[in-house]
Amino acid sequence: MNQSYDTLLAKVDEAGICTLTINRPDKLNALNQKVLNDLQNAVQDIAEHEEVDGLIITGTGDKAFVAGADIKELSELDTETGREVSEKGQSIFQHIEELDIPVIAAVNGYALGGGCELAMACHIRIASKNAVMGLPEVSLGLIPGYGGTQRLTALVGRAKALELIMTGRFVKADEALQAGLVNKIAEDSVMDEAYEMMSSILKQGPLAIRNAIRAVEAAGSKNGYNEEASLFGDLCGSDDFKEGTTAFLEKRKPDFSGK
Ligand code: COA
Repeated sequence: MNQSYDTLLAKVDEAGICTLTINRPDKLNALNQKVLNDLQNAVQDIAEHEEVDGLIITGTGDKAFVAGADIKELSELDTETGREVSEKGQSIFQHIEELDIPVIAAVNGYALGGGCELAMACHIRIASKNAVMGLPEVSLGLIPGYGGTQRLTALVGRAKALELIMTGRFVKADEALQAGLVNKIAEDSVMDEAYEMMSSILKQGPLAIRNAIRAVEAAGSKNGYNEEASLFGDLCGSDDFKEGTTAFLEKRKPDFSGK
């Protein structure tokens, strides 16, 4: 699906890895409604496209991943439209989080406000050395509205989340790593490291990866343990499980069919 969207570039390679690049460089890839609509369509297309096995999200250029929701558009919201916009952003980001394929954010610069929220909706975040992250909405008289209050708390804990949200301050890559906001800092190219990590994930049993995402998604909910047992049981009945265990016992590499 080498599809083109007005504000996004989508490219799938022969390994089944889709790179989705937010492409609004004159505004540091800020998320206006056009970008959000394109993102909604692209995520739907990716979900329906069986040949896509993994997704990497990044931003055009080397300065910004996404510098936030578009502040000009935000300035025009009222009580009713504000709630609608928040619910729409939440729903798109939730769709990303719930994709059955691994999703890595290659955070190549500023990831602020909605950009930080987009990165947090991905399963894994790798930051470039010049990455700067934060939720500065309070400086605009707002709070994060695309899931940021919930996901930041889950990632870094309540106290650190409240500190970052209430001060609105930016954190550099090393503090983001220390806080658990990103998984690692890329030594050189953030895209290369994201690609390398994705490739190592895609060598594993595809059904196991899908069920791992679902099981972790259920963490913290009342039925998380039940969900884990049920997903574990399902895998025990799969060809991938037979192949994985047989390959280990026969001292060879597994050849997974995804069934
Ligand atoms: N919404 C709309 N436009 C944005 C934007 C946003 N979130 N972030 C950056 N831009 C625009 C700027 O207005 C500028 O446009 P212009 O050239 O037409 O004036 C362009 O992108 C470049 O940004 P600029 O501010 O000149 O770059 P900088 O290197 O001086 O500063 C930032 C970079 C990220 C520190 C600064 O752009 C910024 O603070 N952006 C807003 C961050 C924010 O509060 N995001 C959360 C929103 S909820």
